[in-house]
Amino acid sequence: MTQRIALVTGGTGGIGTAICRALADSGMKVVAGYNSGGNHDKAKAWQEEQKQDGYDILVAYGDVTDAASCAACIKNVEQMTNGTVDVLINNAGITRDGTFRKMTWEQWDQVLSANLDSMFHMTRLVINPMLDKGFGRIINISSVNAQKGQFGQSNYSAAKAGIHGFTKALAQEVASKGVTVNTVSPGYVMTPMVAKIPQEVLDKITKQIPVGRLGTPQEIGKAVSFLCSDDCGYVTGSDFSINGGQHMS
Ligand code: CAA
Repeated sequence: MTQRIALVTGGTGGIGTAICRALADSGMKVVAGYNSGGNHDKAKAWQEEQKQDGYDILVAYGDVTDAASCAACIKNVEQMTNGTVDVLINNAGITRDGTFRKMTWEQWDQVLSANLDSMFHMTRLVINPMLDKGFGRIINISSVNAQKGQFGQSNYSAAKAGIHGFTKALAQEVASKGVTVNTVSPGYVMTPMVAKIPQEVLDKITKQIPVGRLGTPQEIGKAVSFLCSDDCGYVTGSDFSINGGQHMS
């Protein structure tokens, strides 16, 4: 069987790195999409770190909020891998937390662009080759805060909840052609994004998690890899929650 090609947006971040590694462990050729504010040296350093740990992962620059930049990214991926994307993980995302009464349009717009508009830009570019091939796996990374809402995250909760609707609609459109679309909703995972939360706020949140701790990026990576496997062709339009029991639906 030919090696599947996977693209993970935000692939050099906390959860992204674990997803890249889990997909590589399952035998895929993996490309980590990165933005890093255009800091290509940072991405190269990340790639070197992966190599030292035995992971041969390609990197491709792309701004997921910008259609032209996404198109250039996909072209680059196709040239580097000599194929088209079989597995897309829409993982790139940002937070701009703040109570709604103080929230600026910029905070709203940046979060909606990076977390939701990105779904359109990236998925639009890979869907037709997947349908032509009769195989595809798309995983959209949402959040527990889409399901339950979160104080200080009206922008982020709105964007992440939008992902659920997108997943379910697209899943119906492409199901008969071997393409599955699912959402993975992590809870609070040990990443630089969560490290930005003030410690006293994070302590309160951790007390609400029945498992009694934050999640690990590896716990997300393994689940994503399972949903991307050939054996998972009957799972589509679903949401896979990994939140230590913080929210049960
Ligand atoms: N519920 C109800 N009231 C709350 C509250 C809560 N959870 N948190 C704070 N408040 C109250 C405060 O007590 C305060 O009340 P008073 O005005 O009466 O004193 C009022 O709301 C204002 O709160 P703050 O002073 O904290 O306001 P702030 O502007 O300084 O900070 C905030 C607000 C930035 C949102 C801060 O509360 C915060 O960082 N919260 C955490 C947000 C969060 O969980 N982000 C997740 C990031 S990680 C991620 O997103 C990954 C993922 O998918 C899970």
